Amino acid sequence: MGAYALPAGAGFAVNRLSPALGAEIVGLDVSRPLPPHTLASVREAFQTHHVLCFRDQRLDDAALTAFSTQFGPLEKFPEKDKTRGAPEVYHVANVSAEGEQLPPEDPRVIFQRNNARWHTDSSYRYVPSLASLLYGIEVLPEGAKGGETGFSNMLAAYAALDDAMKAHLDHLHQVHSYGDIRRLEPQMPPMSREERDALPPVTHPLVRVHPDRDFQRSLYFTSNTSVEIGGGTLEEGRALHAQLLDWISRNEFCYYHRWRANDLVMWDNRVLLHRAIEYDYARYRRVLRRTTIAGSGPVMGPYWPVARAATGRRGPWPS
Ligand SMILES: [Fe+2]
Repeated sequence: MGAYALPAGAGFAVNRLSPALGAEIVGLDVSRPLPPHTLASVREAFQTHHVLCFRDQRLDDAALTAFSTQFGPLEKFPEKDKTRGAPEVYHVANVSAEGEQLPPEDPRVIFQRNNARWHTDSSYRYVPSLASLLYGIEVLPEGAKGGETGFSNMLAAYAALDDAMKAHLDHLHQVHSYGDIRRLEPQMPPMSREERDALPPVTHPLVRVHPDRDFQRSLYFTSNTSVEIGGGTLEEGRALHAQLLDWISRNEFCYYHRWRANDLVMWDNRVLLHRAIEYDYARYRRVLRRTTIAGSGPVMGPYWPVARAATGRRGPWPS
């Protein structure tokens, strides 16, 4: 794909990965602190492309954490047994922290399987995350089936809806609940009471407005904790959820990242859904490490007074 023009002196190349979203960053070592002008160029590329893949990085957990922190404070992962070293470092693997490959029925592998459902990270928080960073340590060999991370562009998916559908979605919400992962994956052991109480269910508007994008709108929903949309009957909510999943899975909105070892992939949870493509868990090892950058505010919907004042809309789309 074509290169994207950056301000002079950015010191690295940005190449588009797909028409829908994503760019690779070549020629930048992120294991050292970035000077302010370079960081500003990275932020600009991130805002434009939504997914950045920094190739050929050499990062231990401390360096991954240090790079991530330049974009904001990090979230602590809700369940300690899925982290490594620090609660901010989430161990995404079918291999234990000690390096043993886990059987497919291990709860930690089942948890990975749940990530095969389209979702956006930490939507179960009242203030969900801004971004996730995922570093590839052991990845599937070339030619192996699966193991990609799929991304779908929710700005584009919303924009392509017809006006009647936009009007239909405008006022709807979805419940996001970390505890509901157990509803979809009943083989997982129950959470402790403390873990449950720390993350009560929340609702978010199905249509998200983005103050940092001139109040542009995107879809915002998940399928890893919920298979219903609220605001109608249960049957309607399930049917709409299924319909939206079909819609956002269309190739025109998606990019599937085939991992190379030492890729660091950073994505925008505010405007994308993502999913891990399943692979043969018994045959291949896959080890990645993730940090998550906390969001700066709750998900705002079309009825947020600031958005209504800014866009001049007083009623449902397309008033
Ligand atoms: Fe995820």
